[in-house]
Amino acid sequence: MAVNFKDLGLVNTKEMFQKAMKGGYAVPAFNFNNMEQLQAIITACVEVKSPVILQISKGARQYANQTMLRYMAQGAVAMAKEMGSSIPIALHLDHGDSYELCVSCIENGFSSVMIDGSHLTYEENIKLTKQVVDYAHRYDVTVEGELGVLAGIEDNVSAEKSHYTKPEEVQDFVSRTVVDSLAISIGTSHGAYKFKVKPGESIPPLRFDILEECERRLPGFPIVLHGASSVLPEYIDIINNYGGKIENAAGVPEDQLRRAAKSAVCKINIDSDGRLVMTAMIRKYLVEHPSEFDPRKYLGPAREALKNMYANKCKNVLGSAGKAE
Ligand code: G3H
Ligand code: 13P
Ligand code: ZN
Repeated sequence: MAVNFKDLGLVNTKEMFQKAMKGGYAVPAFNFNNMEQLQAIITACVEVKSPVILQISKGARQYANQTMLRYMAQGAVAMAKEMGSSIPIALHLDHGDSYELCVSCIENGFSSVMIDGSHLTYEENIKLTKQVVDYAHRYDVTVEGELGVLAGIEDNVSAEKSHYTKPEEVQDFVSRTVVDSLAISIGTSHGAYKFKVKPGESIPPLRFDILEECERRLPGFPIVLHGASSVLPEYIDIINNYGGKIENAAGVPEDQLRRAAKSAVCKINIDSDGRLVMTAMIRKYLVEHPSEFDPRKYLGPAREALKNMYANKCKNVLGSAGKAE
């Protein structure tokens, strides 16, 4: 039976983005696949009073089961309320790759979907995005589109090289599709290996010139930044010191994200940083406690570290802390 997001206590991204645009901050979009990640996201955002977008990829949906997810999202809303808070919570499909997937998510309580047609031709991207928008808007569900290609893996879609968004296309794309927000490519990529830098070399800055040109052509329109993990060195070190092997990893420096968040960028996507924190803390715990086999013992500290990382992102990077009051 179909369920609307409003029945689950969720909100779409419309008002969140209007406030973020006015307030010069970005709403965090944190990916999750399991209970501990969801608990960490909700606890952090309630503690710092930040609006939040819970983000599910196609792979995460397959992993967690769509019915389970619906109740997890409902549980997240109830848990936030129990903690005495009513922060706005959206449930968003990350990198939807078909009309059918978007429809299925909308029928299962998602309040927002991304249709990622960035790998298609321009006209095909418009056609698919518009088809999703037409369906989603009937249910008040917001839609994110994408123009320009990020290098790396976007679910099943992978690209060797990134193609920056062409600012001259954004107005036409937005007016013909009627999307609610637009993801653009300005030099970020997915995963933990975003930039090929030799030791001593600095990370190339994001293409703020492209962002500014998009902003100029789409005044007041919400822009989304994917691939925004910073690949925090302290967690890479823990992973490598406790038996892992993650070499030459590099992420987007947090000061660049801070700058982006002050602009028309209203949503910043972070997945890899969460994965790295969890992996680091679990590795450390298991190495230090080789005879332990209770998952709560190693997942508990991982969840706590994750919560702290998310809270720090809201407070010191995205600027969303205190904006849900
Ligand atoms: O953009 C990609 C997200 O990090 C989701 O990754 O498809 O492995 O769940 P995933
Ligand atoms: P990261 O891999 O940088 O965390 O990016 C996540 C993302 O863009 C999800 O859509
Ligand atoms: Zn992404």
